[in-house]
Amino acid sequence: MRKMIIAGNWKMNNTAAEARELITALKPLLKGAKAEVVVCPPFTALAEAKKLLRGSRIRLGAQNMHDMPSGAYTGEVSAPMLKEHNVSYVIIGHSERRQYFAETDASVNAKAKAALNAGLVPIICVGEDLDGREAGKTDSIVCNQVHLALAGLENDAVTKAVIAYEPIWAIGTGKTATAEEAERVCALIRKQIAKDHGRAVSNRVRILYGGSMNARNAKELKQMPNIDGGLIGGASLKPMDFSIVVND
Ligand code: PGA
Repeated sequence: MRKMIIAGNWKMNNTAAEARELITALKPLLKGAKAEVVVCPPFTALAEAKKLLRGSRIRLGAQNMHDMPSGAYTGEVSAPMLKEHNVSYVIIGHSERRQYFAETDASVNAKAKAALNAGLVPIICVGEDLDGREAGKTDSIVCNQVHLALAGLENDAVTKAVIAYEPIWAIGTGKTATAEEAERVCALIRKQIAKDHGRAVSNRVRILYGGSMNARNAKELKQMPNIDGGLIGGASLKPMDFSIVVND
């Protein structure tokens, strides 16, 4: 009932010229993909990506946005600007943004609302750091982030949102959560959404796993009942690896 999503988070990698190479290599590999495939290049490569993805089923995502549609916010990019480039998804509250760019639960909530109002699908990232996990606080950290990110949203909007569970200690480290542990936390996220927005809504929300998901471990993670796909960093920069994550 929930369609699988595999989203590639390119982070601060690839010029427009490099994006052209990567997308050109990806297109034939992903032709028969059953999952919804999303690539999230940096802002500066969106125009090129839009051109190359015309007629393709690969969707375009951005890595961040501001919650206001326009104004005096130097260096920021808004939802209408993204939509002009055929962007349909936007990553919100990635742990790197929370850690290095002062993103808070409140800004994540404002951005998620703005994205949904503009017709963009937010991929809202949550996850505990190593200290939190070692202190036994994983569940409370993650549930609290989910609760705050979706606060005040209409049920209809919540069904369209995507949550990515990304334990920070697993991002870019090669350490993946076991499929069982990833499933346990994703199920817990669904329970929190049910508590806040009702079971009918929570059953429709897609929950992804992220954190060193790659060609070797994707299949097992994707088979878990509460994991509806993945947010892929490092492996999304390698066409063959990304296509295995998508198609396996
Ligand atoms: P990774 O990144 O796959 O390189 O661990 C995932 C992410 O940060 O979204």
